[in-house]
Amino acid sequence: MCGIVGYIGTQQAAPLLLEGLTRLEHRGYDSAGVAVLGSGLRVAKKAGRVRDLSAELPKRFSGKVGIGHTRWATHGPANDVNAHPHVDATGDVAVVHNGIIDNAAALRERLTDEGVELASDTDTEVLAHLIARSTADTLEERVAEALAAIEGTYGVAVLHADFPDRIVVARNGSPLIIGVGEKEMHVASDLGALVRYTTTVAHLDDGEMATVTATGFTTYRQDLTQVQRAATEVDVDPASYDAGEHESFMRKEMLEQPAAAERVLRGRLDERFGTAHLGGLNMDARETREIRRVKILGCGSAYYVGQMGASLIEELARIPADAEAASEFRYRNPIIEHDTLYVAVSQSGETIDTLLAVQEIRRKGGRVVGLVNVVGSAIARECDGGIYLHAGPEVAVASTKALTNMFLGFALLALQLGRVRDLSISEGKRLIEALIALPAQLQEVLDGEDRLAEIATGLAQAESLFFVGRVRGFPVAREGAQKFKEISYRHAEAYQTSELKHGPLALISPEVPTVAIVPEDELTDRNVGALHEIAARRGPLVVVTHPDVDLRGLDVQRIDVPRSARELDPILLTIPLQLLAFHAAQVLGHDIDKPRNLAKSVTVE
Ligand code: G6P
Repeated sequence: MCGIVGYIGTQQAAPLLLEGLTRLEHRGYDSAGVAVLGSGLRVAKKAGRVRDLSAELPKRFSGKVGIGHTRWATHGPANDVNAHPHVDATGDVAVVHNGIIDNAAALRERLTDEGVELASDTDTEVLAHLIARSTADTLEERVAEALAAIEGTYGVAVLHADFPDRIVVARNGSPLIIGVGEKEMHVASDLGALVRYTTTVAHLDDGEMATVTATGFTTYRQDLTQVQRAATEVDVDPASYDAGEHESFMRKEMLEQPAAAERVLRGRLDERFGTAHLGGLNMDARETREIRRVKILGCGSAYYVGQMGASLIEELARIPADAEAASEFRYRNPIIEHDTLYVAVSQSGETIDTLLAVQEIRRKGGRVVGLVNVVGSAIARECDGGIYLHAGPEVAVASTKALTNMFLGFALLALQLGRVRDLSISEGKRLIEALIALPAQLQEVLDGEDRLAEIATGLAQAESLFFVGRVRGFPVAREGAQKFKEISYRHAEAYQTSELKHGPLALISPEVPTVAIVPEDELTDRNVGALHEIAARRGPLVVVTHPDVDLRGLDVQRIDVPRSARELDPILLTIPLQLLAFHAAQVLGHDIDKPRNLAKSVTVE
């Protein structure tokens, strides 16, 4: 959602900016633009894709310093005028901005009263005017003065025709990274936009600014007092931001799951004592033992995997646990308890709803740990401790390998919480054995792709589907339905199998298939009974189950997954649902990595 790039150096900026913007496309956007300083400042911006912008870029768009942006509309519709960069009336100042300026309406009114004509409907445009109206000597002072007038969140990059040797950037709540090259420097809101050029980067913290020139950068606080931010080498393989031979990032990332799962477990399993070691939680055994409740917060897939995590914690640690949509949490004035462990789950570590929930909890004195994939992201930094997921960069909007590693992160947490309570050493060892076996089992499920593709072709024809499961299987069904609707655009609804007879059974017909999650557990018989009720109403059935489950003569499309420990079964049951959604979307010809209306990280409310 919204992306920033910037370049200053010895090469032509425009092609590099456009290339950077295509690397940010997966985040979700509806318009794009670039500003380049050559002989004067020039701006090109357009609603639609980056390729539309490239196609229309004037030939002579030269200059060796520039900024670019992909916009996700918040203030005003997605059109050419509202696209960033925004300029002041003289056209000397250009600004790109991620985040939201909360007091934009008041500032727009003030500027209008002062005779400024606003060209767009956006909040960002006020920044360009505020900077232009400052009479301070340096660009840094002018930007700092403008930022002092705004309330809200931002990552910004500013160009000024009178200061052609620099880009001034600032951060407050939206990531801003500086990449150090050979006689050139890059700026981006996301590592993925600059790792092709350099892996030497510096991260700005909230409330910090930087001046970036072709030969280096200086960092300072918004009151312009110096702060030292050194560039460091990031350990990331630029190829992980490339789909390579794969037709989409989603497929690549699904196939990476066994390797990603090994990484999240590495060094964290204690086979001798049947427990997990999670040093990053920053909690000693006494603190861990004092936890009376666990509350998990996340959005979208992270919320559903949070529900799986709550089951794991209740089963293994016998601590009451539940998951809640982070987007709702703070609006009900939640009661924050000191003996509750709050867990924020997020791939990106940027999701604003999750971040604001974390801040609300901490404001009220609660302890929050994060299950986060992106190292150093806002949520990771805001938490008291956490478990990094080590899934590697995830580009596709539909989360797969990060989700699997979230589940495994919960398994590790549940194990550690359990082993300082009632969970026996032999039970702990049983879990560890199952965790060690899991990457190979993930591979086994992925190897069944061809058959799943066939089943998906049938499902893709349905306008509407149900995904059903019970207890451990219900969050699996929810996540399966979420994936299916996200990328196939079919109506997919998740229900507890037990609730079917209380309403949705009325919708079952030969046109409405049901994907049922039927693990081998204490509910198998009841689950199979419900499937018979669906079959009696001629509802087509796809059943994701275990090899020994007897479906009592039902005519279904059956998908068997290998058994793990019963507590870990949900993740293996989830994988076929990813493949079903993927292949259905492919049959329907959709852009799998960039589903319509969705963004990879939702950084505005
Ligand atoms: C967006 C994405 C979802 C994702 C959710 C949470 O809504 O479209 O796929 O699950 O954000 O993202 P996070 O980065 O916090 O895990």
